[in-house]
Amino acid sequence: MNPLRIAIVGAGDFAHEHARSITALPQFARLVAVVDPTQERARAFCAAHAVPAAYADTTTMLRAEQPDVVAICSPPHTHAPLTIEALRAGAHVVCEKPLVLSLAELDEIAAVEGETGRTCIGVFQWRYGAASHLRNLMSEFGQPRLAICNTLWYRGANYYAAAPWRARWETSGGGVAMTMGIHAMDMVLWLMGEWDDVSAITASLGQALEIDALALAQVRFASGALGSFNNSTLSPRQESYVRLDFDHITLELTHLYRYVNEDWRFYIQPDVPPSSPLVSRLQAWRKKPHTLPAEIATQWRSNLEMLQSGQRSNVLWSVRPTYEFLAALYKSAATGQPVKRGTILPGDPFYASMRGNTPDAQASGNPSIR
Ligand SMILES: NC(=O)c1ccc[n+]([C@@H]2O[C@H](COP(=O)([O-])OP(=O)(O)OC[C@H]3O[C@@H](n4cnc5c(N)ncnc54)[C@H](O)[C@@H]3O)[C@@H](O)[C@H]2O)c1
Repeated sequence: MNPLRIAIVGAGDFAHEHARSITALPQFARLVAVVDPTQERARAFCAAHAVPAAYADTTTMLRAEQPDVVAICSPPHTHAPLTIEALRAGAHVVCEKPLVLSLAELDEIAAVEGETGRTCIGVFQWRYGAASHLRNLMSEFGQPRLAICNTLWYRGANYYAAAPWRARWETSGGGVAMTMGIHAMDMVLWLMGEWDDVSAITASLGQALEIDALALAQVRFASGALGSFNNSTLSPRQESYVRLDFDHITLELTHLYRYVNEDWRFYIQPDVPPSSPLVSRLQAWRKKPHTLPAEIATQWRSNLEMLQSGQRSNVLWSVRPTYEFLAALYKSAATGQPVKRGTILPGDPFYASMRGNTPDAQASGNPSIR
């Protein structure tokens, strides 16, 4: 097996996590280049991770290096155009969240995947590690009833000053829901099954004056279960918390940015007999010595194994429900109406942008779409 040749696009803060993850997997991959318009950053990145080549733009890099995989770690508004360019140049893509700023962009990437036969993978590292084991046990849990999903984080002036793209709709694609709560909401949506409709309110307060700093959503799942999702960048005591109630079990996860198996707690309904397969399967899962943390390195390991094996599961399709959910959340907050799944279609302003960029939306005075 030849290691895949990977180029990283964007040499900012989080790209270092990707570089460390990739260089720790030399059997699967090696870094061949980095791209950043800020040349000092690109050069420092090369020195830090022993990357042989630095480029100022992606087009030149793709032509010169012809990498097998491009890892996109630049700001969100660049994700879709760079992904499409890399796919057309014959590379697979692993792109940071948010993969796209709209459903229109997601569907365009899907079409280019179809044309090129290359694969685009969106980063959602909380699906990896324990959540993937839990998903395999779901059939033992009984009916899902309730999901609580809190991303209560704090982001002060320094966070936005360090990278001004973070505070602007045009460059970040949204606020706390789109760029922070997205991790936990994606994991919960992925575990709970199809969602049916969402009602949301958002507010732009504090440092994030243009984008949402608070985004609260109530969700109905196709199973009949309900969900309550709370996202904040205004919470000094930070916490990421998920609680899932099924007929036979309550699962809880408390952490901040990265969890391990032991961060999940479970409470089995007392009527469940100790001899039940649910009990033995949960005990077996707890004892698994090889279970990896939910972090970028674990996602890379899994993605590279998939790419090396030649498998092409439709990973892009698997993230669409989350981006459709985000579009519905922002549309509900802007219109004051619940939004049903499957109703944001081409021609709807919220298909083209999470902000619903129409003159009406801009003029409506709704604080969530200011
Ligand atoms: N998965 C996670 O847990 C996680 C955590 C943090 C950040 N992120 C995501 O990672 C991405 C980068 O975030 P960050 O905090 O590292 O940002 P950053 O501002 O620190 O870094 C972005 C870098 O991209 C470069 N850049 C800008 N335009 C470019 C272009 N067209 N081509 C190549 N490089 C370009 C900038 O010069 C900068 O060096 C964002 O999408 C963010 O949402 C993900």
